[in-house]
Amino acid sequence: MITRALFRQLNAHGTQTATAPIFRSRAVFTSLPGIPAKNPRISRIATRATKEGETHENAVFEALKSRRTTGDFTDDIVSDEVVTRAVEAARWAPNHKLTEPWKFYWLGGEAIEEISKLNAALLEADGKPAKAKAKYERWRSIKGWLVVTARRSLDNPLMEQEDYAATCCAVQNLLLALHSEGVGTKWTTGAVTRTEEVAKVVGYDLNEETPVGIVWYGVPAREGKSLRRKQVTDILIRVP
Ligand SMILES: Cc1cc2nc3c(=O)[nH]c(=O)nc-3n(C[C@H](O)[C@H](O)[C@H](O)COP(=O)(O)O)c2cc1C
Repeated sequence: MITRALFRQLNAHGTQTATAPIFRSRAVFTSLPGIPAKNPRISRIATRATKEGETHENAVFEALKSRRTTGDFTDDIVSDEVVTRAVEAARWAPNHKLTEPWKFYWLGGEAIEEISKLNAALLEADGKPAKAKAKYERWRSIKGWLVVTARRSLDNPLMEQEDYAATCCAVQNLLLALHSEGVGTKWTTGAVTRTEEVAKVVGYDLNEETPVGIVWYGVPAREGKSLRRKQVTDILIRVP
């Protein structure tokens, strides 16, 4: 159990920033559906092994594991409020120096049509006319489009890299926030997303912003596939 005395002790050791965020995150967790307001799991620093029969699952774990990419959507329109809330959530991504390097371009019908045509033209030029036609029809049928970009820093490669990383975190926040409201998503970085033409249609300058991808969203027509993952023991390496 975290006590105020413990927080005071942490503060005394120069970790004063620990206090507010932990209490604030408690408030957030306890307001999530499925988590009882006084859940002892939430108010405990996890310094001990899980007891037999005890679960560590909570709404965050559940959301992370149940979000799966899906590109098949029904014709239902996701409300503007849901999208706005998801972008609001995206802003809470970790971000070195709080540069807030992300932009979310919310596309309307004209831009969607233009980008669908540009993508088809790329495929045509690549000698794939049948694929071009099929993709054109599919892309233009998707109603929910967000193009996400990260700020560039041509004179500071490290900052540019960190800003790109932070924007990827923001996209994951966005996907999870949409998922939490029953909205499916697909993050795509097909070749067309990196072109001058798309930048022009959307309205950004490739010298100032780099595309991180298109996020398609909609009411899922079917669940996305749950794909294999490596075992934790294959990727978690203790270093003495
Ligand atoms: C940076 C990035 C780019 C992606 N680009 C594409 C893409 O161009 N086409 C596609 O079908 N999926 C794309 N995806 C989605 C991945 O294929 C998908 O996340 C992966 O198959 C794992 O499935 P999951 O999201 O259900 O866990 C992209 C994902 C990320 C993170």
